[in-house]
Amino acid sequence: MKRLIESSLLRLFILSVLVLSINSCSNPGDSNDRISELISQMTLEEKVSLLGGMDGMRTNAIPRLGIRTLNMLNGPNGVGGDPGTAFPTGVAMAATWNEDLMHRIGVAIGNESRAKKADILLGPTVNIQRMPLGGRNFESYSEDPFLSGRLGVNFVKGVQELGVATSLKHFILNNQELSRGSYSAEVDERALREIYLPAFEMVVKEAKPMTIMSAYNKFRGVHCTENEYILNDILREEWGFEGFIMSDWDAVHSTVEASHAGLDLEMPGKPKFFNEKLVTAVKEGKVSEEEIDEKVARILNIYEKIGVFSDEESLPKGKLNTVEHQELAAQTAREAIVLLKNENAILPLDKGNIKKIAVLGPNASVNRKGGGGSSEVKPFYSVSPIEGLKSKLGNEVELLFDEGTKPAIEDYIAIPSKYLISEDGEPGLKADFFNNEYVSGKAVVTRIDENIDFHWGQKSPDKKIQVDRFSARWTGKLIAPLTGKIRIGVKSNDGGYLYINNRLLVNNWGMHGPHQKSTELDVVKGEKYDIKVEYYEGGNNAEVKLGWQLTEPKTTISKQAVEYAKNADVVLLFVGLNKEFEGEGFDRSSMDMPGDQDELIRAVSAVNKNTIVIINGGNPVSMTKWIDGVDGIIQAWYLGQETGNALSDVLFGDYNPSGKLPVTFPKKYEDNPAFPYYQKVQNKAIMEEGIYVGYRYYDSKGVEPMFPFGYGLSYTSYEYSDLKIENLGDEEVKVSLSVKNTGKYDGSEIVQLYVHDMEASVDRPLKELKGFSKVQLNSGETKEVSIKLDKRAFAFYDIEAKEWVAEPGDFEIFIASSSKDIRLKGIFSLK
Ligand code: BGC
Repeated sequence: MKRLIESSLLRLFILSVLVLSINSCSNPGDSNDRISELISQMTLEEKVSLLGGMDGMRTNAIPRLGIRTLNMLNGPNGVGGDPGTAFPTGVAMAATWNEDLMHRIGVAIGNESRAKKADILLGPTVNIQRMPLGGRNFESYSEDPFLSGRLGVNFVKGVQELGVATSLKHFILNNQELSRGSYSAEVDERALREIYLPAFEMVVKEAKPMTIMSAYNKFRGVHCTENEYILNDILREEWGFEGFIMSDWDAVHSTVEASHAGLDLEMPGKPKFFNEKLVTAVKEGKVSEEEIDEKVARILNIYEKIGVFSDEESLPKGKLNTVEHQELAAQTAREAIVLLKNENAILPLDKGNIKKIAVLGPNASVNRKGGGGSSEVKPFYSVSPIEGLKSKLGNEVELLFDEGTKPAIEDYIAIPSKYLISEDGEPGLKADFFNNEYVSGKAVVTRIDENIDFHWGQKSPDKKIQVDRFSARWTGKLIAPLTGKIRIGVKSNDGGYLYINNRLLVNNWGMHGPHQKSTELDVVKGEKYDIKVEYYEGGNNAEVKLGWQLTEPKTTISKQAVEYAKNADVVLLFVGLNKEFEGEGFDRSSMDMPGDQDELIRAVSAVNKNTIVIINGGNPVSMTKWIDGVDGIIQAWYLGQETGNALSDVLFGDYNPSGKLPVTFPKKYEDNPAFPYYQKVQNKAIMEEGIYVGYRYYDSKGVEPMFPFGYGLSYTSYEYSDLKIENLGDEEVKVSLSVKNTGKYDGSEIVQLYVHDMEASVDRPLKELKGFSKVQLNSGETKEVSIKLDKRAFAFYDIEAKEWVAEPGDFEIFIASSSKDIRLKGIFSLK
C-alpha cells in the first residue's frame, strides 16, 4: 500500500513539474491545475486517444471533459485546404534574406490559419538542401544552417503571435525524397551538429515552436519517430524543447519504442500504433502510465497556450486574402527574384524603346506557383507571367506569345481496353481492392476494370472501400500493339508497381503526389504478356493510371516560336520545372530541364541575342548548353500567386532585383558533394561529404560553381568601406561597415558576413556564414551596417568533448556581396 501511495505521489510530482515547465501563460498555476485535474479524470483509453489522430488532419476530442479536436493545416508557404494566399515557396523566401519580411509572412499565415480555424500550422520546413535533385528543396530554405535558422525563427515567431502553433519539420535529415519512408541517414556527428541540426536548434531555442514533426526516414538505422537520441536526448534534454512531438504522416513504426523515444502524437488517424496497442503496453507494464500522462500534458499545454481552454471567442478571427496579404505575397515574390546574368545591361527593359516582345516557353502562360505535395496552396487568384506583362504594358507593346515546346510533362495516354485482357478472357483487367495499404488479405471488392485511369480525388472507388489507406491489384494480359520498343509506366498518387511477366519493371511506390515512372519494353505485335499493377493510397488525393507511349518523342520546338523570336525586339523565354518534377515522394532524376527546353533556348537565342531566360524551379537546372548564347537570366523559383506581376516589375525596372541565392548553383550535377554517395547504397543516405555541404564544399575544395551561394545581381552597384571589428565583451563582437549605393537605381543590398578560423585544431571550411543584413539604399546614399557575432559564430562541434568549442586565436572576418565576392576583410583575435 505504501509503495502505491509513494508511486502516485511521485507521478503527481512529475506531472506538475512537467506542466509547470512547459506552460507560459499568465496564470501558470491555474493552467497546471486545470491540466492535472483533466488528466486525473481521464481513463487510460481516453488518454491514449489523445495521442493519435482522429482523421487526416485532426486529433481526437473528449467531449465529456470539454476537450475538442485540434485542427491542423499545411504549411510552409501559405495555408492549405480551402483557398488562401499563396506565398513564394521556402527557397524563394530564403532568396529574400529578409528576416523582417519572414516575420510578416508568419503573421499573415498565422492570421489566415485563424480564419481557417487551424490550431496548428504544419511548417516551416528547415531541412538543409544537401543536393540539387532533392524533391522538396523548393519547400525548404537553404544549404546553409545559419540562414535557414534565422528565417525559421522569424516565421515561427510570426505565426505563433497569432495564437497558432507551428510544427517545425521534418526532424531530422529528411534531405531527400527517394525512399523517404525507409532510408537511413548515415551522417557523422560533426556534420549532424554543424550542418543538419543548427537550424532546428536555433528555432527551438529562440522561437519555441509549440510542436515539432519527426521525419519519415531513419537516422543511424532507427526511424526518427522512435529515435531516442534525437527526440529525448537532443531535442528535449539538450535544447529544452517544451512542446509536443508529432509524427510525419504514417511515419510511425512501433508502439513501445516510439513511446519511450519521446513521440507524443501519431498522425494521421486512425493511428496504427498509438491505439489499443499502447493501452495494452501500459497494462502489461511495458510503458508506464506516467509516460502517457506526460505526453497528454504536453498536448494539453498547447490547448492552453493557443487559448483553446480560455475564452475562444475573444481570440483573433483572422482574414483570408486581404489586400495586405496580397501585397505581402507580391513583395516577397519581388524580393525573391534573383538576377543571374545581365550582359550588355539588357535589363531593365525600357518599354519606350520596345515595340514587340516574343513571350515564349511552356511556363509563360501558366503560373508555376509552387511545388508538388502537401505544401500546395490554392490561391484566390493567380497571375501568370504573360498576364503580368499584359497588365504592365497594356497596348503599348505587342506581345507575341507561343508555348515554344510542348509542356514538358510527359503524360502518357492510358492503355486502351482493347490491349488488355483478363484471365477469363474479358476485355480489361481483374481488379481486387483491399481495405489496407499492403495489397494483402481478403479483397473487399473484386471487379473487371476496362483499363486503369482513375481520379478518385478524396473519394474511394467503391462504398465498400475506405477513403484513405486502401490498395488494389490489377491482373491480366497485355497485348502488344506493335513490334519494337514501347514505353510503359504507372502514374500514381500514392504508390504504384508495374510487373510484366512477373518481373517488377516500374517501382513508383511511396507516399507522393501524382507522379509517373516508366520503362522501355521490347515487344512483339499480338503477343500477350502477363501484367500486374499494384497500387496504394495513403491519404488525401487518389489517382492511378497505367499508360504508354508508342512513338519515339520527336523534337517539339515550334517554328512559330522561332519566327516570333526573329521578329521581336526582345525575347522573354519562360522555362524550367513545375510541380510534376519537384514534389513529395520523389527526387529529380537529373539537373536537366525536362523536355526540349534546352533546345528551345538555343533555337531562339540563335535568332535573337536579346533573349532573357526566366527559370522556374526550386532547384538549380543545368545551363551549360545555352548560357553563353543569352544576355539575361532570371531565377524565378516558384513565386506564389503574384508571379507575373513580380516578374514584370523586375523586367521593367519598377523593382530593382535584390534576391541572392540561398543555395549554390553547380555547373553540373556531378560537381555537387553528395553526388558520389547519393543512391549508391539502397535505402541509405550515406553522407560522407560530412560538413562539406554547399559552398563549404565548393569553396574549400576549389570546385567552380555556375553561380555561388549568396550571389545575385542588381541594376545598381554598391561600395563597401570602413570595416570595424569591436569586442564588446561578454563574448560579443560587433562588426560594422559602410555601404554606398553608387549606381543610378535605388536598391537593397544583402551584406554577408563569413568567418574563417585561421588556426584550428580540426579541419574547418574556408568560410561559414555567421551574419547578414539587408539594407535599403537610395541612389547615392550611404548607410552603416552592423552585425553582431556571439561565441558560437567562432565555434565548431567537438565530438570528443561533446560540446561547441571556440578555440582562442585569429579568425578572418569576410564582408561579402556573395560567398565568392569578398569586399572587406579583417581579423578578430579570440582570447
Ligand atoms: C508531409 C508533411 C505534411 C503532412 C500532412 C506529409 O506527407 O511530409 O510535410 O505536413 O504530409 O499533409
